[in-house]
Amino acid sequence: MKAIIPAAGLGTRFLPSTKCTPKEMLPVLDKPVIQYVVEEALEPAEVTDAIVVTSPNKPELLSYFQPDTALEQLLRSRGKDAYAAAVAEAGALPVDFRFQYKPNGLGHAIRSAADAVAGESFLVLLGDYVVPARDICTRMLEVSRSHGGASVVAVAPCAPEEVSRYGVVAGERIDSLPGAEGAADDEPGAVWRVSGMVEKPSPADAPSNLYIVGRYLLSPLVMDLLEDQAPGAGGEIQLTDAMERSLEREAMYAVVIDPLSGYDTGTPSGWIATNALMAASDPRFAGAFWDAIEERGGLKR
Ligand code: G1P
Repeated sequence: MKAIIPAAGLGTRFLPSTKCTPKEMLPVLDKPVIQYVVEEALEPAEVTDAIVVTSPNKPELLSYFQPDTALEQLLRSRGKDAYAAAVAEAGALPVDFRFQYKPNGLGHAIRSAADAVAGESFLVLLGDYVVPARDICTRMLEVSRSHGGASVVAVAPCAPEEVSRYGVVAGERIDSLPGAEGAADDEPGAVWRVSGMVEKPSPADAPSNLYIVGRYLLSPLVMDLLEDQAPGAGGEIQLTDAMERSLEREAMYAVVIDPLSGYDTGTPSGWIATNALMAASDPRFAGAFWDAIEERGGLKR
């Protein structure tokens, strides 16, 4: 199975930083955001390759996932073996690329990788969300297996006024992940059968408060439907719209995840908070991080 990671956007919210550096290359601690997403995508045993869909204007992403033996050798000759190993690791990940030649929406980006998935189910991982535990896709695969290989999305509850930022699902709770039988309908481990979905609804039109968090396991039918998908919200070809059309012919499920299992990197303030939160809890960074904060008398709102 392949995992598609769309990474073709302009990174507008991070300008001017993203004028010359793709947004996906911004670091979280010591690694670019894209590497977390690639590693998460490769976590389930079923996944063999990550397919990054990018624009021809972002060659840095292609270079990053290439081996650089000259740099490795230089680092080793200077006794910096841990850095050499980190460079080698990034260059050895099974990442392939496809190009999206015009910014035409998420659905269009996914469709640009159609040849790579060749009639198989595939994962989609959006890059604005880092999941250190890398466990969401495994849960989605579990739900899919117990429902005949159907499409599955990860969802989480949000405040009613936030629904217009997301794709929102309609449906009913039908099942639970093992161990989550006691979970409420919008608590982690609840499994829903999806009966509809809307991209960026107004609060009044939202069918629930469960939004799609950016992790999808999709059937080949969804890829086929993207071929002739008409533009939707924002004039863009929306993945949500093709998924909604697939419901006429196939069942789809949603599994509720803990919204705090991921960290937002899609806006400067989210990215800054993610770096701070992850530094504070990573033994490699926590000591120096807290020292720097304490030196200035701590942090208060
Ligand atoms: C995309 C999807 C949306 C989903 C969201 C999650 O929207 O279209 O359905 O809920 O990601 O972050 P975007 O953030 O690209 O506007």
